[in-house]
Amino acid sequence: MNKIHAAITAVNGYVPDYIMTNKELETIVETSDEWIISRTGIKERRVLRGEGLGTSDMAVEAVNGLLKKRGIGAEEIELIIFCTTTPDYPFPASANILADKIGAKNAWGYDLQAACSGFIFGLSTGAQFIETGKHKKVLVVGGDKMSSIINYQDRTTCIIFGDGCGAVLLEPNEEGLGVQDSILRSDGSGKNYLGQKAGGSARPASAETVANNEHVVHQDGKAVFKFAVTNMADVAAEIMERNQLTSDTVTWLVPHQANKRIIDATASRMGLDSGKVMINIERYGNTTNGTIPLCLWEWESKLKKGDNLILAAFGGGFTWGSVYLKWAY
Ligand code: UT7
Repeated sequence: MNKIHAAITAVNGYVPDYIMTNKELETIVETSDEWIISRTGIKERRVLRGEGLGTSDMAVEAVNGLLKKRGIGAEEIELIIFCTTTPDYPFPASANILADKIGAKNAWGYDLQAACSGFIFGLSTGAQFIETGKHKKVLVVGGDKMSSIINYQDRTTCIIFGDGCGAVLLEPNEEGLGVQDSILRSDGSGKNYLGQKAGGSARPASAETVANNEHVVHQDGKAVFKFAVTNMADVAAEIMERNQLTSDTVTWLVPHQANKRIIDATASRMGLDSGKVMINIERYGNTTNGTIPLCLWEWESKLKKGDNLILAAFGGGFTWGSVYLKWAY
């Protein structure tokens, strides 16, 4: 019997309607469209508006569209891995909430937290359940409502992040297509450079933590940039090398969209010209777990069976990694 690979057989995405432009941010904090574009590549980002709406509501849109595209019912899904840093609630898991909302009655699920690397951690984890033969239909969802943890008075973070969600379906493939390899890394000593200071068990929410703005994203941008730019490029180059890929045989780089300068440095390290790099940061900013599936969704019509894709990400924690996959349809 041929080896079973986990192949992506459908992809879909959802971004909220509301567009927050750099011009709008100029009216809120001391910044400029020119500064934001030149330092990050971002022109606008989406924001989920509406009382009581959480990340799972964007996931419902993405997943319902995906199921329709694939022509299957929600009850056929066996496992949901919901990669998110902004779950609807600390618990229960957003995967459970999503399963209930879409009618995935036969699925079990869990949330996966690895900040901006979450989607590739989830993809790699989901692939194991397919490769071992345990499951035949695994949903990997990546999405965040970053606007729920952003301080719109902090110009160093509010310009970067946006809301959005994407999802892929993993199914067995015996033609050698799908996930081929992954390199996943974590370094907890990076915890002080990017994260939320309160709201967890070490520092539960209190009137004081709220007054101190400790429930929002805090980032030492310069420090994170330095780690991100080297580690994301290193890991992408490493996965190419160990799979004997060259700049000619890699069809696409699918990078986490944190900063256009980090993406360019990664592509340059891999020897890829910009025509082989998926970039939509100018329209969505950094949607954390949403960036990579949203790219796959937007580039789906250009992808061909057998294309070699390198996914690469870096995130808070620190977490980073790369996945090599062969597109299956
Ligand atoms: O996805 C998870 C991982 N996260 C990342 O990968 C993010 C990595 N970091 C970055 O992308 C960049 O560091 C930022 C975009 C966050 C910042 O860009 P930078 O080129 O590193 O700027 P900086 O922090 O060195 O700041 C340069 C100057 C400072 O002024 P002074 O001290 O030179 O006078 C900042 O106060 O720019 C100032 N500044 C701004 N000016 C206008 C910072 N934010 C803004 C702003 N508008 N929004």
